[in-house]
Amino acid sequence: MPVSRPRFTNKIIIFLAASALALLAASIFWSVQPEVKALLEQRMGENPAASADTIISVIKLILLGIVGYLLVRALNFVFFGFAFRLKRIDAPTLIRNIFTIVAFTIFFLIAFTFLFPKVNLGALFTTSALFGVILGLALQDTLGNFFAGISLQADRPFQVGDVITVGAQRHTGVVEEISWRAIKIRTFTNHVVLIANSNAAREPIEVCPRDNVNARLVFFNTLYSDSPAKTIHVVREAVREADNVSDKVAPIVRIKNLGDNGVDYEVKYWLIDYAKYNDTDALIRQRIWYAFRRAGLNFAYPTRTLFLERTAKAAVRDGDGGALVERLSAVDLFAPLSVEETGMLATAAVRHVFAPGELVIRAGDPGSSMFVVHNGRVQVQVNENGRPRTVATLNEGDFFGEMALFTGEPRTANVVAIEETEVLEIGHSAMKRVFDNNPDLVESLSFIMAERRQGLASQTDPAATTAQTSAGILSSIKRFFGL
Ligand code: CMP
Repeated sequence: MPVSRPRFTNKIIIFLAASALALLAASIFWSVQPEVKALLEQRMGENPAASADTIISVIKLILLGIVGYLLVRALNFVFFGFAFRLKRIDAPTLIRNIFTIVAFTIFFLIAFTFLFPKVNLGALFTTSALFGVILGLALQDTLGNFFAGISLQADRPFQVGDVITVGAQRHTGVVEEISWRAIKIRTFTNHVVLIANSNAAREPIEVCPRDNVNARLVFFNTLYSDSPAKTIHVVREAVREADNVSDKVAPIVRIKNLGDNGVDYEVKYWLIDYAKYNDTDALIRQRIWYAFRRAGLNFAYPTRTLFLERTAKAAVRDGDGGALVERLSAVDLFAPLSVEETGMLATAAVRHVFAPGELVIRAGDPGSSMFVVHNGRVQVQVNENGRPRTVATLNEGDFFGEMALFTGEPRTANVVAIEETEVLEIGHSAMKRVFDNNPDLVESLSFIMAERRQGLASQTDPAATTAQTSAGILSSIKRFFGL
């Protein structure tokens, strides 16, 4: 890194200068030691409180301490900086600190025993209860942090580079360092937060490991008039394409709530680099906006809609009534109808939209209406040994549910929407009006139905004949419609 290199070089220069200075000071002191001693003895005279030897030993201990500290730092640098790096291991700061403390303590104790051979260190530490109490109280927090740090290193619940959220204040950021005192995290506003190890040990920590595919949730909404199936498809594709979205797990788009202003959705997606989640969330919101624009979808914003209720008939008439007449006149079952009669049916038709997988008709239910597929596709399924078997797929312009409408019998099959499907429902009363207007229609309708029925029945009963079925259908239609 170009920025950190000069700092690193500066550090080494300062370190070498300090070492040279310390060594120089020590060697000068050692060489002038007899003169200093003589000077001290001359100045102190017969003072029994402190001997010149003791003062010289204390100065030596201080100088040795400085040299020892610099030596330990140098060892630390050589050992962890070079040896560990060669093996591609980055030694945690806490381990480096422990090494420094232990090595320096050993060095200091050796120097102390060498300079003060008469002082019994063991006895000094064990007998001094007061010393223990003072030290214990003073180091209470420090030792707490130190041991919490050791347990964090042992447990390794997170590592440098992971994103964590800690504590009641929910500090979130990337872990930069775990030292003997604190965890250092860099927040997404580039601030550094230090969390004492002992605090972190008490608080719940949410960890998003760097080498894990972590998920995020992004929320948006649409107007109630926008189709969920379309919205989900459009948003899923838009999210999938965005940078930093993992392709290991497909994004999930689902309805979260039916809100006051619109339909609330959530997008769950997985990130490649979790530390960039703010940017990726923003990118996803942007992509959703553009995808909405292209697909003609609308965000819901706080609105108050004045809903003027109109009957379904009026809605159809005022809406694309022409398209419905066109759709119905293309249905082969209605081929014998005049334009006016088809218009009567179109006026009475009610539009329904079904989601993918939704049941339009359930086998065995009573029913007195039929349906024409306006947009989308449906599957006709019959039950076979308790499992659904698909017997037909119906596309735009196909019809179903005519059997129950014309005969009053229960539904013979399940009809399920394969994709988002819009159907036109034509009820018994609309059909009766058409029959009353034109009674001859029954015969031609029953013939078309019989043809279809035979086609359907031949899958299960190849012996069925058109004539039988047609006659049967004709009489049941007449009976059912009171003709
Ligand atoms: P209905 O019985 O009213 O309700 C279920 C509908 O499924 C039925 O009318 C037909 O329109 C349709 N249906 C039933 N069986 C078949 C089949 N084998 N193939 C195609 N459509 C069918």
